[in-house]
Amino acid sequence: MTTDRRFDRSLVHDATEEVVGRRREIELVVAALGASRHVLLEGPPGTGKSTLLRAVAALSDLELVFVEGNAELTPARLAGHFDPAQVMAQGYSPDIFVPGPLVQALRAGGLLYVEEINRIPEETLNLLVTVMSERELTVPRLGRIVAHDNFRIVAAMNPFDAVGTARIAGAIYDRVNRVSVGYQSEDDELAIVHREAPGCDDRVAKRAVACVRGSREHVDIRIGSSVRGAIDLVMLAAELADLRNDTGIEPTTIDEGTGLDAACAALSGRIRLHESCGRTPEDVVGELWAATRTSDDDGDGASGKA
Ligand SMILES: Nc1ncnc2c1ncn2[C@@H]1O[C@H](COP(=O)(O)OP(=O)(O)OP(=O)(O)O)[C@@H](O)[C@H]1O
Ligand SMILES: [Mg+2]
Repeated sequence: MTTDRRFDRSLVHDATEEVVGRRREIELVVAALGASRHVLLEGPPGTGKSTLLRAVAALSDLELVFVEGNAELTPARLAGHFDPAQVMAQGYSPDIFVPGPLVQALRAGGLLYVEEINRIPEETLNLLVTVMSERELTVPRLGRIVAHDNFRIVAAMNPFDAVGTARIAGAIYDRVNRVSVGYQSEDDELAIVHREAPGCDDRVAKRAVACVRGSREHVDIRIGSSVRGAIDLVMLAAELADLRNDTGIEPTTIDEGTGLDAACAALSGRIRLHESCGRTPEDVVGELWAATRTSDDDGDGASGKA
């Protein structure tokens, strides 16, 4: 049941204008938020989890309170704390409480977006679990804060990240609706690259997308690159070609040195090799880049030579 008119079909429609693809995921997130449920977005880095949520939050006028999950996120950092100097001067008065993101979102009725939820310490996780179930928080010396009707938690998590994934399984999974966010289709990745690098050469963009997609399938690579690698590759190649005064950056005329240099810089740090493979990341990126050249040349050759 939709309890809030903002989480409706027109919101889904407007969000699909801002986000490339992802209609099903948008519908699921909007439906869950409309039903006052919490959400867990689970997917590899760079698959558009933040982009999707930012679009939905902005369109629904909900304040998005962003929290980076890491080992330093203590309960006091998440919920808030009393300013120690002022406590000395005037004691524990409510107006010297410095609200953290959780209290901000509870009071304002915002979306608390917790990235990398599996990385946060156990006691902070327990605090979130309580708030998810009870929709209220009791802060010592401040009192009880009841969640505004529009308060929701959306957490994000990367399945490749082994840190603490087992630890959170039971407690969090039982209180959220899990939306699995996989890699985009080739067409969608290409559309994303064009959106992020407007005016870029389409054939270079295609090579870059083929490269990152290839990196996810490559036998020597444990974790491949997200679309972020393709975006950087395209931008770097164009800039590098300018600096080096290349005549153009179409795949047929591109200086392989320039394209390869851009690919190495954009991708070699993003891929994770199997330790046993004994190759360097540059070597593997070189192979990926060369493989995309073959397919481009085939494409051009088909129209040119046939
Ligand atoms: N569906 C999409 N529509 C538009 N842009 C997208 C989409 N998916 C990814 N992008 C672009 O790709 C980049 C990464 O997306 P985003 O930051 O949303 O990923 P993420 O899943 O939140 O990654 P992480 O897990 O690392 O936080 C951004 O530049 C974003 O603009
Ligand atoms: Mg993100």
